[in-house]
Amino acid sequence: MTRTVYVNGEYMPETEATVSIFDRGFLFADGVYEVTSVIGGKLLDFDGHAVRLQRSLDELEMKNPISKEDLLEVHRELVRTNEIEEGLVYLQITRGAADRDFAYPGDDVEPTIVLFTQAKPGLANSPKAKEGMKVISIEDQRWGRRDIKTVQLLYPSMGKMAAKAAGADDAWMVEDGHVTEGTSNNAYIVKGNTIVTRQLSNDILHGITRAAVLRFAKEAQMNVEERAFTLQEAQAADEAFITSASTFVMPVVEIDGQAVGTGAPGSVAARLREIYLDESLKTAI
Ligand code: PDD
Repeated sequence: MTRTVYVNGEYMPETEATVSIFDRGFLFADGVYEVTSVIGGKLLDFDGHAVRLQRSLDELEMKNPISKEDLLEVHRELVRTNEIEEGLVYLQITRGAADRDFAYPGDDVEPTIVLFTQAKPGLANSPKAKEGMKVISIEDQRWGRRDIKTVQLLYPSMGKMAAKAAGADDAWMVEDGHVTEGTSNNAYIVKGNTIVTRQLSNDILHGITRAAVLRFAKEAQMNVEERAFTLQEAQAADEAFITSASTFVMPVVEIDGQAVGTGAPGSVAARLREIYLDESLKTAI
């Protein structure tokens, strides 16, 4: 099926959608993005994604070409038109097309905005949630502003390929002996009754799923510690898991070939996945 996509104010078939070769997203990775999940034809955590989008734009002094209300309408229209029951809406805004120059162009250059959908049937009932994921560790070689959700994703792509080559599902990145995050997700361990995940700073992306999961964990009287942890601590933990808009809560059962806990998905991750999906669906729009 040819999808309908949204480019600079217009809906069109994906086959007709184009962006300039001078677009700064293409030339400088001068752009930001968001991924919002869809379950039952509804958007999860739309508000959180819209707030983070604005923050990313502000940090880069980039104009926002669309109001929050209109952005929601575009998301909904694409979900409707493309009949997405389970899947994702991808949104990207770049600084626009201008002659190649490292300095930002003037105010007359309009940002580029693109949205498209990806159907992912079975997203909520992914078999991986029952099997668990294997991760490898790699050095974190990304830039220092990982809190801004930019489209410079080459190092995470390289990490994914290294994981694939090692027969694993993903890579956890390590800096100064401590885990920062996964290539496209936040990382957690569980020891006893305590969930540990790295504190917010410029070192990691401030995950929207992370915020929701930590809120639900606290409401369910679980202990949460926001601090950095080492790879060795993770390997010796009772459980490990990740969160993101595209995986929700997903157990990690192996780190660098070493089983975590029993080597099977743990009960804390399973419970948090269930709570996250139940609670987020209640507020999905
Ligand atoms: N990735 N950390 C990184 C580096 C990420 O790229 C992501 C999201 C997350 C989790 O954030 P959230 O819970 O808001 O999805 C953490 C998206 C899903 C992606 O790039 O496809």
